[in-house]
Amino acid sequence: MRKIKLFTPYVSWRAIWNTIRVLRCGQLAEGPQVKKFEQEFASKFGFERVLAVNSGTSALELAYELAGIKEGDEVITPVLTCTATNIPLIRRKAKIIFADTDYDLNVDIEDVKRKITLNTKAIVFVHYGGNNRGLEELIQITKERNIILIEDAAQVVGSEYWGKADFTCVSLQAIKTLTSGDGGILICKNEELHNKGKRLRWFGYDRDQKQKMGDTDLLEAGYKYHMNDVSAAIGLGNLAVIDKIIAHRKALMKIYKKHGAIAGVWFCSMLVKDRKGLMKFLKEKGVETGVHHYRNDQYTLFGGRQVLKKMDEIENHYMLLPLHHKVSFADAERICDLIKQYEKI
Ligand SMILES: Cc1ncc(COP(=O)(O)O)c(C=O)c1O
Repeated sequence: MRKIKLFTPYVSWRAIWNTIRVLRCGQLAEGPQVKKFEQEFASKFGFERVLAVNSGTSALELAYELAGIKEGDEVITPVLTCTATNIPLIRRKAKIIFADTDYDLNVDIEDVKRKITLNTKAIVFVHYGGNNRGLEELIQITKERNIILIEDAAQVVGSEYWGKADFTCVSLQAIKTLTSGDGGILICKNEELHNKGKRLRWFGYDRDQKQKMGDTDLLEAGYKYHMNDVSAAIGLGNLAVIDKIIAHRKALMKIYKKHGAIAGVWFCSMLVKDRKGLMKFLKEKGVETGVHHYRNDQYTLFGGRQVLKKMDEIENHYMLLPLHHKVSFADAERICDLIKQYEKI
């Protein structure tokens, strides 16, 4: 029986070839490959300037720092997301206000609106699975209320509408649609903050300005969040074939959607009655599924469980389906047939 995994990293031959060249050339640290990757990413997705960093989490850490989120600031953020969205807020001692999820697993915009106060400093929007429903409305609301908007776009590559907020944070982690092994991209709307982000990703120095330890005074406490040339070589090789990767994912999305799944370009999810039973049944048929992200308020770190109506309703009913280059169209149809078959049992 052929096994279908829930996630499988896509690494193109060009990525392998690029990486071998970099590994042999003697420059592994941040260098020309990172610069090239930034330029090609910006040009491919239509941005003026981007900052390559070593993870989506680092991009979020920098975004929160550049946004000036400090102790006690209220930040509205989705309860259903990767913990990486919210852990950096804890570190900053921000006051996390969890917004409920909606039935498509993106944030419930009405709940976000209800939770805005005069003290709301920022709102985090997560493109859950690559789904951008709600972003347009939040852009409008945050503009009117002078609130900072941050897109956690970790899962977004391949989606059509993103990169519109004050800060946008992309993940290039192993199983993402576009991977550099591990990596991230930070997009800042404001040019000064972009320049500050560039300094903060490498201790506080702007390498483009030839600032160097010893020669240049250090004025800001930066991080070591820069991308290296090995990651950039992988990213460049995969970026070269990204249209093909996305096209396949979108074709799979169509099939899953036809059968009632909630389709985003990074993963498809489905609301099902008996999640545990169905996942076991699919596993016996060689199909791996998963839950992957859990409501963040279940962790003590975030203060413990709250009453969130829709999250409470669906927390045991959402499930992720395999969506990647190793899943054929026939596989997707078969997975949907198996789900139907189980529901009839
Ligand atoms: C919604 C979300 N935010 C943040 C991250 C963190 O990205 P990274 O793993 O690149 O640090 C992820 C990673 O999967 C994610 O799914």
